[in-house]
Amino acid sequence: MARVALVTGGTRGIGAAISIALQKSGRLVVASYAGNTEAAQAFQKDTGIETIKFDAGSFEETVAAVNDIASRHGAIEVLVNNAGITRDAVLSKMTREMWDAVIDTNLGSCFNLCKATFDGMKAAKFGRIVNIGSINGQAGQYGQVNYAAAKSGIHGFTKALAQEGARYGVTVNAIAPGYVDTDMVRAVPPDVLEKIIAKIPRGRLGKAEDIARGVLFLTADEADFVTGSTISINGGQHMY
Ligand code: CAA
Repeated sequence: MARVALVTGGTRGIGAAISIALQKSGRLVVASYAGNTEAAQAFQKDTGIETIKFDAGSFEETVAAVNDIASRHGAIEVLVNNAGITRDAVLSKMTREMWDAVIDTNLGSCFNLCKATFDGMKAAKFGRIVNIGSINGQAGQYGQVNYAAAKSGIHGFTKALAQEGARYGVTVNAIAPGYVDTDMVRAVPPDVLEKIIAKIPRGRLGKAEDIARGVLFLTADEADFVTGSTISINGGQHMY
């Protein structure tokens, strides 16, 4: 039977490419989204991938969604924590709400989803968790103390949970994407983005598929000996 995979934020951008790649590799994929129902419906129609609406930053909503998926398809064995938002501003202009929103959605969601699925994976003696971090969690970024803190937290979270999962066959890894051509990156002011692209040795933004390829590698059944690692996919912008 196909293994059940859940991709948070899986209907747009990097998440959509991950959902599609996992489906092509034979997984039964469910893609979650938080707000953009129109985009999710179009994605489901185009790909045949089931979509489910819940706020990954809410523990209660996450548990209910995970239980719903498990009751209809079986326990989740492949989890990609991809959901993420930005609320960029320099610290002097950043509000507490902007901080909380990014920490809850980007880092709190990793806790919520892993908490809801990890014991099932341990019992099954198989699990593949991939957390999507960021180059900006590794290197920092002007105007992103919230995002950089959340993404940096994801990298620590990954290494800690990998130690808990290893003896049960549950691997936990991270990918640190660089600047990828998505709505999120296109929202960066054009003059700022131009300067960022000039610093990418590969000379271009990443494609969502560049990140999906890394997820396929880390979630393969054969990737049993890879855990606690971070793969940087950033065109050489930050060699970490
Ligand atoms: N280093 C040093 N100084 C900088 C700087 C930098 N990287 N960027 C801007 N500054 C300076 C500016 O030159 C300016 O100085 P002056 O006032 O002397 O001219 C000052 O800081 C204020 O800059 P802004 O006018 O840009 O300030 P703002 O308040 O209008 O905007 C900002 C600040 C919102 C952070 C804006 O600069 C911005 O959006 N930056 C992009 C942040 C970014 O890269 N976000 C990534 C989003 S994509 C993502 O996160 C995905 C991923 O994982 C990679």
